[in-house]
Amino acid sequence: MTARLRIAIMISGTGSNMLAIHDACRSGRLAADIVGVLTDKPQAPGLAKARDRGLHVEAIPVQAGEDRRAHGDRLLAALKILQPQVVVLAGYIRILSDEFVNALADRLLNIHPSLLPKYKGLHTHRRVLEAGDTLHGATVHYVTPDLDCGPCVLQARLKVQPGETEDTLVARIHRAEHVIYPTVLAWLAAGRLQCIGSVPMLDGQQLKAPIVQDFE
Ligand code: GAR
Repeated sequence: MTARLRIAIMISGTGSNMLAIHDACRSGRLAADIVGVLTDKPQAPGLAKARDRGLHVEAIPVQAGEDRRAHGDRLLAALKILQPQVVVLAGYIRILSDEFVNALADRLLNIHPSLLPKYKGLHTHRRVLEAGDTLHGATVHYVTPDLDCGPCVLQARLKVQPGETEDTLVARIHRAEHVIYPTVLAWLAAGRLQCIGSVPMLDGQQLKAPIVQDFE
């Protein structure tokens, strides 16, 4: 029997993606264990939810005068003890140091609420609505030092509906994210997905473009 994938999750907010990943682990859809949940925000609502579920949690806020590199080093020290095979950013809002990202090269995933490479950065739903785009989505990608630029693995794509607001998009994108993040992790756990030198391979084939899944 193959060992279960060891996942660490980093959050800053509500943690709904973390819960979806945990649900997938509990239901058997994802052969993985969450070995720890780290946050930079001790008051993050997601942290209390993780605690309620009996997950190991650690709050590692930025200390006064601490720079990005020093904070990243403390995060890495905590991860070293947890020994995850993959680190999953799930609404982790702080920009990470290059040293942190490079130390976890090919083992660090993020989910971003847009169809990357469109709309890197913040306020993606608002920018999609302002631009009058007809399509929007979310992307699971490997993290490289350039923000929201790493190789994409899986995208959820949905049509922007008439009368759509930021709130309706948040809800619809979240629903899709809760499917695609566990899917990518299940590929990893099953040995179907690998990333070597920032090149993702799915079922032995190089992923030159993300797989796209359509959602209502
Ligand atoms: C998600 O929509 C995720 O795509 C986004 O934060 C939300 C976290 O929700 N991430 C980013 O914007 C990263 N650039 P959650 O805390 O409920 O999982």
